[in-house]
Amino acid sequence: MQEQLRRIQEEAAAQLAAITDKSGLDALKLKLLGKKGDLTLLRRSMGQLPAEERPKAGQMINEVVVAITAQIEEMDAKLKKIEQEKKLAREAIDVTEPRAHTPIGGVHPIALVQDQMLKVFTSMGFDVVEGPEVELDLYNFELMNIPKNHPARDAQDTFYIDENIVLRTHTSPVQARTMLTRKPPIRIVCPGRVYRADEVDATHSPVFHQMEGLVIDKDVTMADLKGTLDAFARTLFGDDMTTRFRPSFFPFTEPSAEVDLTCVNCHGKGCRVCKGTGWIEVLGAGMVNPKVLEMCGIDSKEYSGFAFGVGLERIAMLRYGITDMRALFEGDVRFLSQFRDD
Ligand code: PHE
Repeated sequence: MQEQLRRIQEEAAAQLAAITDKSGLDALKLKLLGKKGDLTLLRRSMGQLPAEERPKAGQMINEVVVAITAQIEEMDAKLKKIEQEKKLAREAIDVTEPRAHTPIGGVHPIALVQDQMLKVFTSMGFDVVEGPEVELDLYNFELMNIPKNHPARDAQDTFYIDENIVLRTHTSPVQARTMLTRKPPIRIVCPGRVYRADEVDATHSPVFHQMEGLVIDKDVTMADLKGTLDAFARTLFGDDMTTRFRPSFFPFTEPSAEVDLTCVNCHGKGCRVCKGTGWIEVLGAGMVNPKVLEMCGIDSKEYSGFAFGVGLERIAMLRYGITDMRALFEGDVRFLSQFRDD
């Protein structure tokens, strides 16, 4: 029996040393001290010993049980400590580690120039007014002095929803809406999307953006128009910018002008961008046609006004040196992320 005990103790020591985890330890504990464990069975077998040897044998077994229990507990504590250390290492936060890349959005170049232009005009006292993109023929054409069968309708490649409803072809209908609901003096700019049935290419898109300007007051002249547009050109493109007016025709303005801007690329010297002229066409403008004023309920003997309409894609392309308008609509983040508020 003494021999058996010694063997059990030796084996236990060897097995304990080889243990690496809690489940191994539990199994060993069961094998030694469980109901059918080696030491338990040994204790039960004491009945076969002569009575006088039993107390001594019991004492010996107990000593071994106490010793092994202590060893197992020690091992258990050691495993727990290792586990705890592993857990801490796993959960540790390295505050010096660079964080995962979080992409930051840019501002779309159309939004940038729109904001810059709104800033220029609101600082001159203009209100910002918006109108619907699905528009009545009445506002888009009739009240802009473009009656049915007028050739200017063809020129605008209109998307018709039905006979009386169109996708607005320009922001000019907001002029009519405003004149019909406000009394002069009127000073407004109207940014927004407009639609024309154009094929997509480097300079055309069926959806694009305009900003309309309208000023109605007593004694408004073409000089006021010129001064306003010059201020806009200088603020967006620099102090050496100016504008040039060329006679043109729009049904809703009389007289009308195509307005050129000093070439932003060569500053007027003449280059490839301006085809050697030193000028770039940027917008249409003119004095509000008295017929339009009258149709919109404004006395053309008392009041006069000017209006202009400018394409934002064109301004954005000039401002940022973008050569293909499609880049503004394709949504490629590699292109868009280059633009930030400035
Ligand atoms: N509505 C015109 C266009 O889209 C631009 C314009 C607006 C011209 C106001 C003159 C006055 O082409």
